[in-house]
Amino acid sequence: MTTSRRNLIQAVAVGGAALAATQDATKAIAQANAPMPAVDMPGPSTQERALKIVSIEALEDEARKILPPGRFAFMGPAGDGWTYRENRRAFNELPIMPRRLQGVDEKDIDLRTTLLGHELPLPVFTCPTGGQGMIHAKAELPNASGTGMAGTLFVASGASTKPMEVIAKATSGPKWFQIYMNRDMGVNRTLVQRAKAAGFSAIVLTADALGPGQSDEFIRLGRPFPPDLAPGNYDPAYGGHGNPHDQKRDLSFSDITFLREESGLPVLVKGVDQPDDIRQSLAAGAAAIWVSNHGGRQMDGVPASMHMLRGAVDVVAGRVPVLLDSGVRRGIDVFRALAFGATAVGIGRPALWGLAAGGSLGVKSVYAQLTAEMRTAMLLSGVAKVTDLNRDYLAKV
Ligand SMILES: Cc1cc2nc3c(=O)[nH]c(=O)nc-3n(C[C@H](O)[C@H](O)[C@H](O)COP(=O)(O)O)c2cc1C
Repeated sequence: MTTSRRNLIQAVAVGGAALAATQDATKAIAQANAPMPAVDMPGPSTQERALKIVSIEALEDEARKILPPGRFAFMGPAGDGWTYRENRRAFNELPIMPRRLQGVDEKDIDLRTTLLGHELPLPVFTCPTGGQGMIHAKAELPNASGTGMAGTLFVASGASTKPMEVIAKATSGPKWFQIYMNRDMGVNRTLVQRAKAAGFSAIVLTADALGPGQSDEFIRLGRPFPPDLAPGNYDPAYGGHGNPHDQKRDLSFSDITFLREESGLPVLVKGVDQPDDIRQSLAAGAAAIWVSNHGGRQMDGVPASMHMLRGAVDVVAGRVPVLLDSGVRRGIDVFRALAFGATAVGIGRPALWGLAAGGSLGVKSVYAQLTAEMRTAMLLSGVAKVTDLNRDYLAKV
């Protein structure tokens, strides 16, 4: 592989959150062809084992021990990590108000929820995260298969290491495809048509990432993205074409319509928080609103997702599902988000930590842990069905 090709791939793939690094395509290509430091980094995890998880936060330490520092730093937050910390604080500052003496037994607990026609065994799913070849030697495949083993939804990233067709086959559960739009609308058309042909049942338009998310630590380490991790969806062997570098930044509400018309699938919008943006997304036909700040990995300084949830639920007013991610680490976090009106919540890093520490069985273990924690939270709050959760279960603080 030539140096410039390697540099192009490296610059393109960095971050997994987006496919371009600079303000315009010309600058991006120039940067891609500039000399990059040689990448000399030990390989990703090859683990495949069930995990004994005490807490998801303890699992992060486990993943940190297994992954080389550059690979671990790939998952880090942007900037000061303020938004990243806010995501956790927002959950923790919201006390739960259990009901007592409700006659609810363990056998009554029912975590099932329906999301755009899919019945999920629990209201938690795996978020799209790009470049999972950074984390595990089999990239997205164990994450998809572990999520499928848990019976829940896997969202494949448009910036995945493996092509979407290969990921689609790895999961036995429902699956959606997330797109980072290209300036070339022909590329977008091909991507969503391939997604439909591969069995993905919805398209997720990510609106909050117009460039790569990179932690200070990742930058300090020289952005150590191995050159061989090209974005799988642009592989011509799978019908990919175009320049993966050429990310469309001037996204607008008409892109929702375009994706709907070209794919014939429901289109969700991920990363819209402002009430008016939500209203316009709905007017353009969004099938669901996904409140997210990219896990604090894009723009530092924006509010916690949990702080934006109430407004989003109120604007949507039951017309479509509202999803949330960013900072979900415990069953009680899922409980709180659902009590506020979310239909389901996504996990990004927790699945990646499970992937690093245990491959597909590790991801399955993450879901087993969240299921157990959710069940306990429901029992101790005297509520049997997740669909019965409402704001009465939260303290008015
Ligand atoms: C390493 C990494 C890569 C990500 N890549 C993508 C991506 O390709 N597309 C996307 O929509 N979101 C991406 N995200 C954001 C996740 O979908 C999700 O919003 C976030 O991880 C949720 O926060 P959490 O990690 O605290 O659970 C990425 C997040 C991480 C940590």
